Amino acid sequence: MGAWFDRRLGFAPVIQKLRHHLREPLPKHVGWLWTLGFTAAILFAVQILTGILLMLYYKPTADAAYESVRRIGEEIPAGWLVRGLHVWGSHFIVGVLILHALRVFLYGGYKKPRELTWIFGVLLLMIALGFGLSGYLLPWTQLSYWATTVVTEGAGALPGIGGASLELVRGGEQVSEATLGRFFVAHVILLPVALVILISLHLYLVARLRLAPIEDVRTEEEQGYERLVAEGKPYHLHLTKEVTVALVAVGLLATCAILFPAHLGAKADPFSTPPGIKPEWYFLPIYQVQKYFPADMGFLSGKTAGVLFVGLCSILFLFLPFIDRSPERDPHRRKWTIRIGMVVMLAVILVGVLGFLSDRRIEVFGKAFQFDPYGVPHAVQKVEGPPDGH
Ligand code: HEM
Repeated sequence: MGAWFDRRLGFAPVIQKLRHHLREPLPKHVGWLWTLGFTAAILFAVQILTGILLMLYYKPTADAAYESVRRIGEEIPAGWLVRGLHVWGSHFIVGVLILHALRVFLYGGYKKPRELTWIFGVLLLMIALGFGLSGYLLPWTQLSYWATTVVTEGAGALPGIGGASLELVRGGEQVSEATLGRFFVAHVILLPVALVILISLHLYLVARLRLAPIEDVRTEEEQGYERLVAEGKPYHLHLTKEVTVALVAVGLLATCAILFPAHLGAKADPFSTPPGIKPEWYFLPIYQVQKYFPADMGFLSGKTAGVLFVGLCSILFLFLPFIDRSPERDPHRRKWTIRIGMVVMLAVILVGVLGFLSDRRIEVFGKAFQFDPYGVPHAVQKVEGPPDGH
């Protein structure tokens, strides 16, 4: 049977290469943290599968979108589960990718000759965020409509091309059916194609350059990779760890989807802005940091400065391998780089938390606090009714 196919397809050399790859030794320090890339790939596969199932019933028009998603959740058999897996899956992927990027940062996996592996990886993270942004609008709920309005405002603040880019993203001045059509095309065609191309490039480079050793860049060059990893365990032993972590992640995902089914709020109403609109957690730092720029900064408006700041941070992150050029990979020998990385990470988390708290009323130990748009608490009189966020 195998010979029949091989005579026609000629796949024997490919199988041989894969077998060889399974036996290749890995650097000795590679452990559980090196399983997150594989887990991300499996989670993406689950997204594609559940996404295809959702597409069988979803209708991308302003009139029908909300009703079609309601039907998926309430009438189609197991529709609520498929939707739950897809919605929760988007959060899991972003979380796992952030952890994967942190691991690569911690162990200097982005250094020569793996700079392009990092760049393709950061682009993949951006694609995951693009999936989150475009997918959020598709159910056409109040929350998704207004959160999309808030997040896409950034495009309008770009210097010189603000109007044109807002038009490109929204298909008009406001979020409308044209935006829904564009986001649908991005979500089911453009981003998946970009994803497949970039994952292929990323994994090709991981297989070609192999996992970075703990030794510094010069030692890898001078002594040669094979010598450094000669005593390491073969890849197939690590593969069992990768499969274990991926299965645990999928199990957790299913648990969340079953215990906390995806919610569908009210249908979008472009004429009434609901209070306390916030984007998804992974956009909160980007959304909040822009508020701290003063409205008028002389030659720039605060909005433009905020967007440029976020753009600059993304470019610095993308080109990190060319900014941190020290040859060391071992985290113990890169104390300052790791410290700077930790400070940046804590700052991003802090701004995200301030974004979460902003414009909210919360009760702590019987006292009521109103958080202003900057996330600063102000004591207020207790009023009847549940506090915000409940
Ligand atoms: C769909 C998204 C992604 C997939 C499927 C993926 C997959 C993988 C896999 C399977 C590995 C092998 C080792 C491991 O799992 O740790 C790896 C390594 C690597 N990834 Fe990713 N990755 C993704 C996103 C990212 C992101 C967001 C970054 C950086 C911001 C990144 C940067 C890297 C680098 C530099 C390596 C080589 C590290 C080393 O040799 O130590 N990847 N990736």
